[in-house]
Amino acid sequence: MMRRVITRAFANIALCKYWGKKSDKDNLPATPSISMALEELRTETEVVRLNKPPHRIKVNSKRTDPVSEARVFEYLEYWKNEKLISGFYSIDTKNHFPTKAGLASSSSGFAALAQALSAFSKHKISKAELSRLARIGSGSAARSVTGGLSGLPVGRNPAAKLIMKPEDIPWGMVICTVDAKAKKVPSRQGMQLSRDKSPYFNAWVIRARKDYKLMLDAITRLDFSSIGRICEENALAMHACMIATRPSLIYWNDVTVRLVNAVRRWREEGLENYCTIDAGPHVVILAKIPELKKIAARARRIKGVIAAKKSLTSGGASIVECV
Ligand code: DP6
Repeated sequence: MMRRVITRAFANIALCKYWGKKSDKDNLPATPSISMALEELRTETEVVRLNKPPHRIKVNSKRTDPVSEARVFEYLEYWKNEKLISGFYSIDTKNHFPTKAGLASSSSGFAALAQALSAFSKHKISKAELSRLARIGSGSAARSVTGGLSGLPVGRNPAAKLIMKPEDIPWGMVICTVDAKAKKVPSRQGMQLSRDKSPYFNAWVIRARKDYKLMLDAITRLDFSSIGRICEENALAMHACMIATRPSLIYWNDVTVRLVNAVRRWREEGLENYCTIDAGPHVVILAKIPELKKIAARARRIKGVIAAKKSLTSGGASIVECV
């Protein structure tokens, strides 16, 4: 019987954002989303089967906070209730980037965990099924299972689908880290607040569904200018919905604003680049591969930017080692 498995997955950054749930129960997204998995945002997870309770959870070799721990315990229970696994496990997740700072660590975390748990299952779990299972852990994780450029539609029990393989994607991203401290309101809570307390929530959902269709069309045409424009507009629309929440959810800080303005200025000057921002202060810049180096160098010169790292697209979740 297998005892130990190591898996790898990459966090993804959405070009069309998932923000809001249709149902909390099975973590059903209210908005369809499209993302790129990034090779610089790597997570490796080791799962060992234990002989006796309790489960043990570590993140970056340390005990994690009680809320994150409870969320992982609950997730293990889900797999057990579905009769996919049995027994007790020790889970050690290593994120090779700042955790819980708005850099989508739950996407790679739950994708790597789902991939590892599937190795302990007696059932054969397809990629689509694995994506659904990862979604139960975290909506964005569904897209890290498939990697590359992936889309997660809305629906009764959606799974992410690969839209473009990493090697076919002629653009990449520059990840600009502005503040590595843990964020105040986690996405899960933030999207609940937006749904219940933002007067713009319904308008956001309608817009997000239109953006998804337009984005798919632009990707089919490899029309980078449209892809970038929709990506930036979609992120700003999501933040407008967040900011309008009462009380307001402002994930930005002054460096975020400086970066957004810089991206727009560089674009006016002829450097084609676009920005996106998740539920945190960091800014991620989308550009064609040959421009990434120049953009990273420029971003590093902006006051308050801690790091600017260029990244190409990565693949999906995979098993690294299995004993
Ligand atoms: C802003 O996937 O972290 O990054 O499903 O509650 O775990 P849960 O939320 P999560 O939300 C991601 C929000 C986002 C946008 C995106 O990645 O699409």
